Amino acid sequence: MAFYDVIGKTYAQTRRSDPRITKKLLEILASSPASTIADIGAGTGSYASVLAEHGYRVFAIEPSETMRSQAIAHPAIEWMDAYVENLPLSDQSVDAAIIMLAFHHFPDYRQALNEMHRVVGNGQMIFFTYDPEMISSFWLTEYFPSFIRDVESTFLPIPKLLEEIQSITDSVANVIPFPLPNDLSDSFAAVGWARPELYLDSDIRNGISSFSKIDDDELNSGLFRLSEDLERGWWDRKYGHLRQQSEYDVGYRFFHRSAV
Ligand SMILES: C[S@@+](CC[C@H](N)C(=O)[O-])C[C@H]1O[C@@H](n2cnc3c(N)ncnc32)[C@H](O)[C@@H]1O
Repeated sequence: MAFYDVIGKTYAQTRRSDPRITKKLLEILASSPASTIADIGAGTGSYASVLAEHGYRVFAIEPSETMRSQAIAHPAIEWMDAYVENLPLSDQSVDAAIIMLAFHHFPDYRQALNEMHRVVGNGQMIFFTYDPEMISSFWLTEYFPSFIRDVESTFLPIPKLLEEIQSITDSVANVIPFPLPNDLSDSFAAVGWARPELYLDSDIRNGISSFSKIDDDELNSGLFRLSEDLERGWWDRKYGHLRQQSEYDVGYRFFHRSAV
């Protein structure tokens, strides 16, 4: 059973595409002509749907039935029950391939990159991912310290990912920092950087894989301390300035290997 068959039952409720992320994604895609896209690890199709609405034909690759079953059908999206390690697409069959917040879930990242490169050929490769070196400066880890170990052991460091892309594709990728808006609508791990109360909501936590990996003691203790700190104003004394900011660079990054 795929991991997201277990943890993804309510994913579509809290993990809606964010318009600022889709704007940046569409902007990057528009840098060279593309009409067919492979969305690898497409989840419930939140980003595939936006691409389809913008006229792209999308192959949405997703191994979890629980995730695929939450997708809204669109005539321009073809869903494929498959893993990145063995994509059911022929060589150079798409103009672009995207991996949105999924690369860190792939057990064999080299095989994933090889497969992505095989189907896209000289087309665009786009990743939306996280810089693991930023995790220890995120305040949430004071409450849930094992996030640091989880993130550092699952996300590839930026220089390493760049090196791997270059060694497989023989071309250089750009790294584009993506500061998160304070009203992000895709509730992934850093969604509450300026809205700490969100982490007290179990629906929000259920859409964040890092929360599913921490043990009950750490979870309960972190939630207890966070709610106490919020009630007593301690969180605001230390981090309240974040509530005034419209965006903040928590560590999310786009990677773009242009069409060559
Ligand atoms: C955090 S979700 C991201 C989903 C979607 N891209 C989004 O941004 O909402 C990660 C997805 O990767 C999928 N996934 C995990 N391992 C995979 C693999 N080996 N090949 C393809 N997809 C995989 C999971 O089933 C899950 O749906």
